[in-house]
Amino acid sequence: MVKRWEIGSEFDWCNDFVMASGSQTLLPEKYELFSTGTATLFALEKLLNHKPERRLRLHLPSFLCMHFATKLKSIFEVHWYRDLPNQESPDFNSLNTLPGDLVLAVNLFGIREGKVWQDWLLDHDDIILIEDHSHDPFSPWASQSTAHYAIASLRKTLPVPDGGMIWSPQNLQLPKPFSSKSFGAEKRLTAMLLKQAYLSGANISKDVYRQLELESDEELDRENNCASSSFTAHIISCLKIAEFRQSRETNVRQFINFILTERHSILMPLFHSWNPGYVPLNSIIVCQSKDIRDSLRKYLISQNIFPAIHWQQNILETSSNDPLAIDLSNRILTIPTDQRYSLDDIARIATTITEFLQTNDNTIASSLI
Ligand SMILES: Cc1ncc(COP(=O)(O)O)c(C=O)c1O
Repeated sequence: MVKRWEIGSEFDWCNDFVMASGSQTLLPEKYELFSTGTATLFALEKLLNHKPERRLRLHLPSFLCMHFATKLKSIFEVHWYRDLPNQESPDFNSLNTLPGDLVLAVNLFGIREGKVWQDWLLDHDDIILIEDHSHDPFSPWASQSTAHYAIASLRKTLPVPDGGMIWSPQNLQLPKPFSSKSFGAEKRLTAMLLKQAYLSGANISKDVYRQLELESDEELDRENNCASSSFTAHIISCLKIAEFRQSRETNVRQFINFILTERHSILMPLFHSWNPGYVPLNSIIVCQSKDIRDSLRKYLISQNIFPAIHWQQNILETSSNDPLAIDLSNRILTIPTDQRYSLDDIARIATTITEFLQTNDNTIASSLI
């Protein structure tokens, strides 16, 4: 069979991702698994809110997935503080808490360090700090956390159909899921298996597994207090997590070096360095304008490279109303360079971007005059 080449989008499943055992030590000592990251927070709200007639106040960073924020708004009173991934740390002056408030601190793109939050927490012992490690559940920050709670949506970095992990670095009581069957995860796993067959060259239409992915997304979205699938619960301790992190980091470094060498004024990496032990979610670039970002994205898709936007944010939908976050969300693009790909793949993505830059140089130059 002739393999199909494409980059990005949802994970497929392949038995090569597992080893006999080995990741157990990377997981927190004690944790609960829900079907999604959002479900961990819904369940935590049930555990912490002793007066259901009032909503708990939750502070969110202004740069965040707005779909996630919208869901949180349905049960929390949401407040925003400024936290932008192109700045080293959050703007703590914009984080105005009252005793009893919940604060979500996010390791944006996996390259943030926890020290600033640990220092902030020392001076704010009347709030509940929840850290979101979805972009790297195994960073030094995640493993040395001092927060009340930490969560991670596992399917953002691991090839699992579902999974939201919650643990308590302070050893507090953890919420437990109410229901045990995630239908969304079953559909997603089927999609992952079909995608693997498709990529291997089998005569399977892409529409089939894409449709299942979309349906599973909708179902997972509705499962607000459901345990993770038994597939995820059993497989996570066998995944080659350390290896995944290493290839992810190598790939991101290689891609970012390419962008830096290219030195093109219309796009640049969002970050180009990180501390030892940290692993970026992916290669993130920032374009000079939304139009350039959108046409680059379109071109990449035409070449079977599927970049994501982390995250769309505009005034028509839920927005943090932070103008700097909105501006960045208009120009940002995630180039998939995770553990699924080889250095040859990264070189091919780089060549495709160079082609885009060359073919668009004149158009872009005239649009800038
Ligand atoms: C940083 C971050 N945390 C948590 C979530 C929620 O995870 P899930 O989609 O598993 O509910 C998202 C969703 O996009 C996210 O981007």
